[in-house]
Amino acid sequence: MAREDGPTFILSLFFFLSVLSSVCDCHPHSLDRAVSNHTKRKVPDIATEVAGYVDVAKKIIDLAVFGAAQNRSYTRLADFTDTIGNRVSGSQNLDLAIKYMYTAMTQDGLDVHLEPVKIPHWVRGKESAEMIAPRAKSLALLGLGSSVGTPPEGIEAEVLVVKSFEELKQRAKEAIGRIVVFNQPFVSYGETVAYRAFGATEAAKVGAVATLIRSITPFSINSPHTGWQDYQDGVKRIPTACITVEDAELMWRMAQRGQRIVVRLTMGAKTLPDADSFNTVAEIKGWQHPDQVVILSGHLDSWDVGQGAMDDGGGAMISWEALSLIKDLGLRPRRTLRTVLWTAEEQGGVGAQQYYNLHKVNLSNIDMVMESDSGTFTPVALQFAGSDAAKKVMEEVVKLLAPINTTKLEAHGEGTDISPWMQAGVPGASLHVEDSRYFWFHHSEGDTMTVQDPQDMNLCSALWAVVAYVVADLQDMLPR
Ligand SMILES: *[C@@H]1O[C@H](CO)[C@@H](O)[C@H](O)[C@H]1NC(C)=O
Ligand SMILES: *[C@@H]1O[C@H](CO)[C@@H](O)[C@H](O)[C@H]1NC(C)=O
Ligand SMILES: *[C@@H]1O[C@H](CO)[C@@H](O)[C@H](O)[C@H]1NC(C)=O
Ligand SMILES: *[C@@H]1O[C@H](CO)[C@@H](O)[C@H](O)[C@H]1NC(C)=O
Ligand SMILES: [Zn+2]
Repeated sequence: MAREDGPTFILSLFFFLSVLSSVCDCHPHSLDRAVSNHTKRKVPDIATEVAGYVDVAKKIIDLAVFGAAQNRSYTRLADFTDTIGNRVSGSQNLDLAIKYMYTAMTQDGLDVHLEPVKIPHWVRGKESAEMIAPRAKSLALLGLGSSVGTPPEGIEAEVLVVKSFEELKQRAKEAIGRIVVFNQPFVSYGETVAYRAFGATEAAKVGAVATLIRSITPFSINSPHTGWQDYQDGVKRIPTACITVEDAELMWRMAQRGQRIVVRLTMGAKTLPDADSFNTVAEIKGWQHPDQVVILSGHLDSWDVGQGAMDDGGGAMISWEALSLIKDLGLRPRRTLRTVLWTAEEQGGVGAQQYYNLHKVNLSNIDMVMESDSGTFTPVALQFAGSDAAKKVMEEVVKLLAPINTTKLEAHGEGTDISPWMQAGVPGASLHVEDSRYFWFHHSEGDTMTVQDPQDMNLCSALWAVVAYVVADLQDMLPR
């Protein structure tokens, strides 16, 4: 059932007709002026238009938070991740995950299809690291995505511990033939992740044979965190893994005392030929402008540790749940709502980049792109990036979230998988949650259902559904 057209629509239709009748037979130039005057006059109206959605927003929130859909996104996520487990790019589990979601969303009554994508296929193999001197100790580690392996007998070498790329440069001569251990402090994920991404390349440039990098996390109970890393063309590819904060600090203290540290590293990692995969797409077609689209998204792949519940099972589930809530209420917006569950995000947004390349011919019809990939904990704000005019609209839209206390609109709607659209000028939105714990569990064995909370997911689902529905149903697309 379509939402009824409110008085705002009729008023502005009347205005539009009167503008047309006053300018017909006129010089095209005056038509332009009249139209731009019309556009200008509509801006104060947007508050009224959006306020017309107070009741429908409340219905969505009630259903998600207090009603029949309470805890549904959590229950779905638990069933999905408990059944499939983690699902790294190229794995059989990722195939099973895509089949699972295709079936589940089809059974939910959505219009679902798959779009093929070739994705990287890196496998970890067996891996271990042992400190041999000054004393024997096994080191917990996780090899980094795209790393090469060691020879089967491993690499045994003396260690050079540094705290920064700067220190590595200053001590370049000492790095030759060594395993470089980076014990960089955690500043923020965005800043500190450079050590995971480029540590191997920087160390190889000064002659190191392997790198062990302190996990990119503010908190640790001896848990290593994996992630993607980038080799540079023309630089020797050396094996690279993350170790725990505890072991990085241990070796740092030993080195400060002048102790000689020797480590043996064995990694069976290798890269296989690209694998076949799919982006999973589910839709509710718009009744008035089916070609115009609001995209909601999360990624279905994860790392090969934990359950990938938080990264990004939660984002994928609320992007499905939003459509379920709207459908359950018998709503159908003017424009199409499209949920895309990306494949191979962790390898650098591979599925999302291909989706953009294939669909950019319809760039002008993409109204807004949304991505949830920073956890589905208690929501605190909607993050948004777009023109000032679009921000004005979104400032009104978030007011509809008063019943769940998330009426804040913040800057920075960016996300890996929506960035190609945003760089091309499409407004983008992300979910800002109380994320202080996100990087405690991120890319580690700790990313399981145990860190998820049903009530938090209800709130995230409600926010996601209200924002997507209202933007897709407004008379006009968001101004670019
Ligand atoms: C624009 O709208 C204002 C307010 O209704 C009106 O006074 C003005 O004449 C209009 N200008 C043009 C160029 O149509
Ligand atoms: C949803 O989860 C909360 C918290 O675990 C629980 O108190 C509540 O009873 C659950 N509701 C339903 C309908 O299962
Ligand atoms: C572009 O949009 C049109 C109209 O909705 C649709 O028929 C076509 O399949 C779209 N093309 C791509 C590549 O998405
Ligand atoms: C919103 O805040 C009010 C006042 O602090 C509180 O009573 C209410 O429970 C909150 N609602 C939700 C859904 O958290
Ligand atoms: Zn993610």
